[in-house]
Amino acid sequence: MAYETLIVETRGNVGLVTLNRPQALNALNSTVLKELKEAYAAFHADETVGAIVLTGSERAFAAGADIKEMQPLEFADIYKSDFISGWDEVAKARKPVIAAVSGFALGGGCELAMMCDFVIASETAKFGQPEITLGVIPGMGGSQRLTRAVGKAKAMDLILTGRMMDAAEAERSGLVSRVVAPERLIDEALAAAEKIASLSRPSVMMAKEAVNRAFETTLEEGLRFERRLFHSLFATDDQKEGMAAFVEKRKPAFTHR
Ligand code: CAA
Repeated sequence: MAYETLIVETRGNVGLVTLNRPQALNALNSTVLKELKEAYAAFHADETVGAIVLTGSERAFAAGADIKEMQPLEFADIYKSDFISGWDEVAKARKPVIAAVSGFALGGGCELAMMCDFVIASETAKFGQPEITLGVIPGMGGSQRLTRAVGKAKAMDLILTGRMMDAAEAERSGLVSRVVAPERLIDEALAAAEKIASLSRPSVMMAKEAVNRAFETTLEEGLRFERRLFHSLFATDDQKEGMAAFVEKRKPAFTHR
């Protein structure tokens, strides 16, 4: 399949998606959204793919929603079409997605990184929600996901001033799980994704569901949900294989069933 705004490849058991609008610092327009949904759907349908890495260029992961596309829009139209709501589908990817961020991750770019399951950043990464400087506010989840990731104080600081934070500050505040040298970024993300892809797919997908449930429910309900998923994994061949392999001191051969 030919993409206009993405480079989509498979590396081993990992799907690699590279945002590719260099002339606009990977600004996210409606074509990027449409193509990203198609790429994710193809990887979801591909049994050999166990995890996805989403990245941009060295200069920019993505510098936000496309301002030039948004500039002429009017309230009534974007309200009626529920403009940008399609990104919710990207956030609901069921296979794990790792964001590998180098350079600018601003506005919708920061929000897209936060839709991924975790973020590995290059030392050059810069995160921010500068929408306020355009006379608007974050619209793809920034006020909600950033607040949950870094807490109210830093989210307010970033969203109200529009300032950028560097990779070290992003890691300190919990937005980013690892910071690596720029030349290590893709290898580190692919290695993490390959590790995930080598594990039992039902348990990986349920682990993702369980962690995400922590953001949506009470502790008691979340604990019950986790326990029920845990119980259900004892119905899989992979639980039998994983535990037998441990006892027999060998590597498990998961069949993802
Ligand atoms: N939309 C459209 N085009 C963009 C863009 C964006 N978000 N960000 C950068 N570009 C374009 C620039 O217009 C420029 O194009 P031209 O060469 O045709 O002029 C090209 O990318 C290179 O950008 P700069 O010349 O500005 O590069 P720089 O190195 O001087 O600055 C930057 C880099 C600080 C990231 C700057 O480009 C910038 O501030 N970009 C906008 C960041 C922003 O405000 N993002 C939030 C968007 S709103 C949003 O995302 C809403 C939401 O939550 C849904």
